[in-house]
Amino acid sequence: MVKPLIAANWKMYKTVNEALQYLSAFKPLVQSATDVDIALCPPFTALAHVGHELQESNIRMGAQNMFYEREGAFTGEISPMMLRELGCVYVILGHSERRRYFMEPGMMINKKLKMALRAGLHPILCVGESEFERTEQETENVINTQLTDALEGIPSEEVAGLTIAYEPVWAIGTGKTATPEMAQDVHLFIRSFIAQKYGKSSAKELRIIYGGSVNADNIKQLMSKPDINGALVGNAGLDPQSFAKIVRFKE
Ligand code: PGA
Repeated sequence: MVKPLIAANWKMYKTVNEALQYLSAFKPLVQSATDVDIALCPPFTALAHVGHELQESNIRMGAQNMFYEREGAFTGEISPMMLRELGCVYVILGHSERRRYFMEPGMMINKKLKMALRAGLHPILCVGESEFERTEQETENVINTQLTDALEGIPSEEVAGLTIAYEPVWAIGTGKTATPEMAQDVHLFIRSFIAQKYGKSSAKELRIIYGGSVNADNIKQLMSKPDINGALVGNAGLDPQSFAKIVRFKE
């Protein structure tokens, strides 16, 4: 059984003060949740404080991005070592907003993924099609290309340990969630892709989470699907009460 992961991606929201206020409300609400992995991914500027506050809690921390070198003359970038030092366990890579607004190509995501693994971070690799690609029935082709590019040269043992987030671009921040059936179809496609290229046992171990307008009302249905192993939550993860309801979807 793959342990579910419910992660909040705060994107470019929350100052340090706002982050700390969130934590004081959120921590007690999820204290007793043990059957799911919980992660918060604050902006870089809040990582140090959030990391400190989360010590000895059941909540792990992730970063939303990183650069693919350990250190060097890369103005404005953040290395995986810097993230580790602040207590990051996870790192989101290849989010559609990074691909779209910062022109991150597959080759760069591949370099970041390799570096994250080398540095001991647990990558959450995002893939997903645009609305146009879905109407053109290109979803599987797009996912195929994104996975092929991102995973190039990564051995199966490491692929098995990844988290892949299926995030249809048209469902992100729009309130339009994929139906559980639509999401399940793509998750199954991803698992089959991994089974074919990296072996059945890697595919079985792989955690595939869904992202795109997840909220307290739709989480339960999404999680009832066999290949949906968690969620990456944007908007609904910004409020401690609503994110706690998502984390505790079973209750
Ligand atoms: P959303 O964002 O939940 O606001 O749609 C999801 C994401 O971008 O990870």
